Amino acid sequence: MGKLTICDHPLIQHKLTFIRDKETKTKDFRELVDEIATMMAYEITRDLPLETVTVSTPVVDATSKVISGRMLGLIPILRAGLGMVEGMLKLIPSAKVGHIGLFRNPETLEPVEYYVNLPSDAPERLLIVIDPMLATGGSANAAIQALKTRGCTQIKLMCLIAAPEGVKAVQEAHPDVDIFLASLDSHLNDHGYIVPGLGDAGDRMFGTK
Ligand code: PRP
Ligand code: URA
Repeated sequence: MGKLTICDHPLIQHKLTFIRDKETKTKDFRELVDEIATMMAYEITRDLPLETVTVSTPVVDATSKVISGRMLGLIPILRAGLGMVEGMLKLIPSAKVGHIGLFRNPETLEPVEYYVNLPSDAPERLLIVIDPMLATGGSANAAIQALKTRGCTQIKLMCLIAAPEGVKAVQEAHPDVDIFLASLDSHLNDHGYIVPGLGDAGDRMFGTK
């Protein structure tokens, strides 16, 4: 079973409250998502391996640590995942970015894939699938499966808000994938929206509807 981590740092919780607020406008929504993504990037990279190197300080030669060449890839699920990319790249600027385009059929809630474009060396990278919302889990599961079908094996999932139904679905379908969230909410409503959630993340991010 993949590990579930809730990144509940006070700054993250504070900013999350403002993206939930229906009065928050597109510009602020975007900025807040970007900031939360940066803070979550800090948490999701916590277990990156380090190696010891020698560094000459102005005072003495010393041993110190650097990240041990682990290559990362960010995989935003379009559209809303795009809003988390820049925030994460602030901390991990050398990560490559692949894209998976999916939307939920509003009637069946089933994901429909329309675009996949990955770095050519994606199978050698630790890939972080990013999407603000994990509702039924259909989109995340389809994105993870799209990566596995293309030979990728090291995958983590990072979302801002999840419903328990989505977490369960991903843990059952992909027990090798660790999940990082800012909040685990109450449940899904009859339309597949997360309660309390924040509404439609893509629409709020891009000002559509
Ligand atoms: C939203 C969200 C996730 C998906 C979550 O995308 O960004 O990708 O729904 O729902 P699920 O867990 O039930 O699959 P949406 O389909 O609205 O597409 P969009 O980002 O293009 O608006
Ligand atoms: N997608 C969203 O954008 N919001 C939800 O609450 C569920 C799915």
